[in-house]
Amino acid sequence: MFETIEKEILSAQKETKKVLIIGLGQIGFSNAEYMTKLGLHVEGVDLNKEAINRALHHKVIQKEATNFAGYDYYIICISTHNPENMFIPFLEGVYSIVKRISQEGKTGALVGIDSTITRGTSRKLESILDHRLHVVHVPHRFYIHEKETHGVNQARVVGGCRPCCTEAAFGFYNNMLKIPLQQVNSIEIAEMTKIVENSYRFMEIAFAEELKIICDRINVDFGELRHAVNSKWNINILEAKEGIGGHCLPKDSQMLLDISNKILPHSIIETAKKIDSSYRLHKNPQLEIQ
Ligand SMILES: NC(=O)c1ccc[n+]([C@@H]2O[C@H](COP(=O)([O-])OP(=O)(O)OC[C@H]3O[C@@H](n4cnc5c(N)ncnc54)[C@H](O)[C@@H]3O)[C@@H](O)[C@H]2O)c1
Repeated sequence: MFETIEKEILSAQKETKKVLIIGLGQIGFSNAEYMTKLGLHVEGVDLNKEAINRALHHKVIQKEATNFAGYDYYIICISTHNPENMFIPFLEGVYSIVKRISQEGKTGALVGIDSTITRGTSRKLESILDHRLHVVHVPHRFYIHEKETHGVNQARVVGGCRPCCTEAAFGFYNNMLKIPLQQVNSIEIAEMTKIVENSYRFMEIAFAEELKIICDRINVDFGELRHAVNSKWNINILEAKEGIGGHCLPKDSQMLLDISNKILPHSIIETAKKIDSSYRLHKNPQLEIQ
């Protein structure tokens, strides 16, 4: 009986509530696609006209938003790296969006930050909004090559600025979107979770790259060594491929490195960055001449 009533309320909410996806790149498009499939009313906005046209063409949004008024959920999915250098975090876009939400956004609505941000960002955003809207960070773990298993609907960490924010996040991400959530006690933990995850990955790759350079120099077959070492139950050395690319790992580990640099004289991440540069040169010696 209660379950039926709950389902009816949820389906009524889906029809009346409006979602605005801000940033329609890989994450934003996939979010919009997923939410639209669930029957939500989704609109979108992006600086890039092509991203909007793509979302409209694939019918993952109903229309391009012309202003930020009247939405119940503002989901921020914009890029957070400097377009000129993937190692440099760039959060000005997030601040300017939130300033606009503070002027035009609906009181009591939810601002969900899916983009990767560094420690301390969410509280600054909350103060811009003066807590007129709820602020939560739900860092995305999307992996384009495994969309089915590691797409929008996978377990994610959630942290809210205040308990009411976290509650609002559960109402949207968990109840409506059916995304399994792991709640953390502060939004700072949510911020740190994402950048630690990616820094860890960065270091694992850099370690494989270091081994590959060593092996090549001393004439040892890296593949065979890796296979042998990985036969131990608690070891998984990664492959060494083209160098650490994409826009996530470089800038996310830089975010952690920036924090570390204020506390420690040395950082393992700094060394991992240097190893990755050496590995790129090792793979493409002509890069040094350019
Ligand atoms: N792609 C992934 O696998 C992945 C996984 C986890 C987390 N993330 C994080 O999610 C965020 C988005 O990543 P992405 O891969 O979707 O990036 P993307 O480059 O594919 O898309 C970002 C979109 O944001 C738009 N944009 C940038 N600034 C804007 C602004 N001020 N206003 C409106 N639109 C703006 C861009 O035009 C672009 O279309 C990043 O913080 C990234 O680190 C990405």
